[in-house]
Amino acid sequence: MLLLLLTVFTFFFGSSAVQHEACYGKSFSIPLGFGPPLYDGPLILEPSRRGSTRTVMDKGMSMEPRLKVSIYSATLTDLNKGDEGTYSKLSDPQRQSWSFKLKVLDCADEVKKKYGEFWTLSFPRGAALFEFTPPNSVDPPVVLWNRSNPLVKSGNRGRVSGNSWQVSNVAQSENGFYNIRKKDNTLLSRIHLTVKENIRHYHKVVDKNVIFEYPWDNGAWFVTFQPAGEFSKITLIKNGSEHTEDRFRWRLDTSSEGPKIYSLESRNSGTYEFTDKEGNLALVAHLVVREKEDYDSGDPPPTQILIYIGIAALLAVFCCCCFCCKKKCCKKDKSAPQTAAAPAVSYHDESQPVDPSYSAVPSSSAVSHQPTAAP
Ligand SMILES: *[C@@H]1O[C@H](CO)[C@@H](O)[C@H](O)[C@H]1NC(C)=O
Ligand SMILES: *[C@@H]1O[C@H](CO)[C@@H](O)[C@H](O)[C@H]1NC(C)=O
Repeated sequence: MLLLLLTVFTFFFGSSAVQHEACYGKSFSIPLGFGPPLYDGPLILEPSRRGSTRTVMDKGMSMEPRLKVSIYSATLTDLNKGDEGTYSKLSDPQRQSWSFKLKVLDCADEVKKKYGEFWTLSFPRGAALFEFTPPNSVDPPVVLWNRSNPLVKSGNRGRVSGNSWQVSNVAQSENGFYNIRKKDNTLLSRIHLTVKENIRHYHKVVDKNVIFEYPWDNGAWFVTFQPAGEFSKITLIKNGSEHTEDRFRWRLDTSSEGPKIYSLESRNSGTYEFTDKEGNLALVAHLVVREKEDYDSGDPPPTQILIYIGIAALLAVFCCCCFCCKKKCCKKDKSAPQTAAAPAVSYHDESQPVDPSYSAVPSSSAVSHQPTAAP
């Protein structure tokens, strides 16, 4: 309904072209009036991402392999990002009332991983082709696996095992879209993989050691250090071996588990970034090195706690005593004048019955009188 209204609106006022949206890999029917049976003139595509303006259909004939034209309809099949753009009937796309826009949505299942994790993707039944496109790419996908030609090799780290795709240590270089297609090339499923770095927090005390375990193997890592409160980064490890840095000198050691820093200093606080040789950010380690004094005030030793408890208990006892004494004294003070004041109050009570402060007193004095009268 809204679409119809918009169409009518733009037809009459030509304010902006109608935008259509369709999923990647699916088909899109060319709207009525832009193709057969009502129109058989040229249809021009001005791509929004890349490529030059071109005619996709003319004289009721398709000029694109994926555009299927019959005498009744025109359908763009197996959509990809390159199909995005403005489609116009004239070569002048400014005449917007004669054009529409197409946006191709990703429509992919989201998969989120951390660097170094194991990723396995099971192929659905009938899978014959597995392909990959990096994010924001309009280039044709790279074929990672082809059932009819399994010898196809790709530069990626993953491999097909059984009926699934397996990557033993995912990295950001694997980020992107993965398509699984049938033998006739129709899209079976589409996955969007997003790999993020690991984030760790280390809290240490001066003079202690720290070891940053490698997120994956002990390969050729690049490690930088950004001291807390500074902007510049210092290279600590380059291609797996130590890089001379005055601040650390002999205190830095690259063990097989990960780099180790001995007898920490507070100026070692900061951010340590681990990058692999392909430039993938694997780990961000935040280190906070506290002074010893900090440690004492933050975490008091047991004897100090006992002293605090003792003082608190004494104070509590003292307060209790004071409270009790005061209560007793008050009771004595109250009972004495109350008996005497009772008649005076009842006198006031008669003359000024409105004042609540006076009416409250006789009732309490009456209560205090009762026990003395009973015996
Ligand atoms: C898959 O392999 C077959 C056989 O070699 C080949 O004909 C076909 O073009 C390949 N498909 C793709 C998308 O590369
Ligand atoms: C990194 O070190 C390895 C051996 O440890 C060496 O083969 C490689 O060429 C080095 N790469 C760079 C960029 O220095």
